[in-house]
Amino acid sequence: MSTQTRFLLKESDLPKFWYNINGDTPVAPAPVLHPQTFEPVSPDFLSVLFPMELILQEVSTERFIEIPEEVLEIYRLYRPTPLHRAVRLEKALGTPAHIYYKHEGVSPAGSHKPNTAIPQAFYNKISGTKALTTETGAGQWGSALAMACNFFNLDLEVYMVKVSYNQKPYRRIMMQTYGAQVYASPTDRTHFGRSILADFPDSPGSLGIAISEAVEVAATSGGSKKYSLGSVLNHVLTHQSVIGEEALKQMDMAGEYPDVVIGCVGGGSNFAGIAYPFLRENLRNGQHTRLVAVEPTATPSLTKGIYTFDYGDTAKMAPIVKMHTLGHDFMPAPIHAGGLRYHGMAPSICALYDAGYLEAVAVHQLATFEAGVLFARTEGIIPAPESAHAIRGAINEALDAKEKGEKRVILFNLSGHGNFDMASYEAYFNGNLQDYEYPAEAIEVSLANLPKVKVPA
Ligand SMILES: Cc1ncc(COP(=O)(O)O)c(C=O)c1O
Repeated sequence: MSTQTRFLLKESDLPKFWYNINGDTPVAPAPVLHPQTFEPVSPDFLSVLFPMELILQEVSTERFIEIPEEVLEIYRLYRPTPLHRAVRLEKALGTPAHIYYKHEGVSPAGSHKPNTAIPQAFYNKISGTKALTTETGAGQWGSALAMACNFFNLDLEVYMVKVSYNQKPYRRIMMQTYGAQVYASPTDRTHFGRSILADFPDSPGSLGIAISEAVEVAATSGGSKKYSLGSVLNHVLTHQSVIGEEALKQMDMAGEYPDVVIGCVGGGSNFAGIAYPFLRENLRNGQHTRLVAVEPTATPSLTKGIYTFDYGDTAKMAPIVKMHTLGHDFMPAPIHAGGLRYHGMAPSICALYDAGYLEAVAVHQLATFEAGVLFARTEGIIPAPESAHAIRGAINEALDAKEKGEKRVILFNLSGHGNFDMASYEAYFNGNLQDYEYPAEAIEVSLANLPKVKVPA
């Protein structure tokens, strides 16, 4: 008998509610602090950047938040997404483990990012915003928000990290196709961008710098432009919970329950999206699934960063949050997983990791591309370099299960396809990629510049 490899939900199975971890978390979130006064931020400060509905979601402790019909209508263009069993990958590895993956690369923009781009554009639209600003690393987030802004008739300015802008011209063109304006950051359009260019004319940019530029434009727009962030914030993680909610139903269809759930982490949104609904089952319903975040050794914020208060951006304009950080002025090596190059991590992931509810591992770039290529050659889908980190994590689990002779059920999130990442694959095939271990001394230098916050009790 052949093994079933795809588990498909009906449109009517689309979740009607997002799951908010703050309704269940056993570790109270630390306060978010104002970047100048170091006092807890007020909704007034946040409202310069975000519409009130998203601010309310950010601080909400409601376990479930209803998804508006206008959002569901656009989700239906690509959701529910399929769950696959990677039987051919299992065979290639000779593992007794069962490997499942949730395929978020089927969204029109190619990743999980529209799951939050669509509601963010919607809530901005209904609160009267005319235009959004944002940053993008690899271009996945920018493309998703460009698509969403187009659906809700909002203008969009995207500050794209310069190294990615040069590596990924097709992502830029995709954003332009949806109608967005795209700039290579650092730009000469902002005070902060000009100051970086004056000191480092060849700066490759970083997510921290691009965030600062996008925040500056929104904050000085007199209210017409708001800022949108594709990861890290709690409301973003909440929107991504549709991934895990669907996966719970699909694992049920498959007649199995995961022993381990894996996702790559940049700011943490796709990992939280798949992992938090399973964490709820651990916390409330006696399950014991291990939840493993996979990060690059070049940006090891969870595994090597320190857990403290730091700015969310390089220019110190964004709020200060408690997170595992490499320091806000951390300059990442130009690895090809652009979306994983952030210096910090979502505060809720950090708090849960610190308290032992989540695990984290760091993997090297070459081993990651090796995993991505094996996945492409067995399952047919070329993964985004970011998602290949989750594949590496899943393969390591499957090989460990093989060594121990265990039948382990592994579920990972395939956060996006890599069809626009051919330059990265070419560099890998030509032997032009290297492994980077971010040097401990460099992290120490960045950490010396942390804000001197009196840690609230
Ligand atoms: C395909 C893909 N996966 C993962 C990430 C990392 O972001 P996050 O940790 O928020 O999911 C990105 C970010 O750009 C991405 O494009």
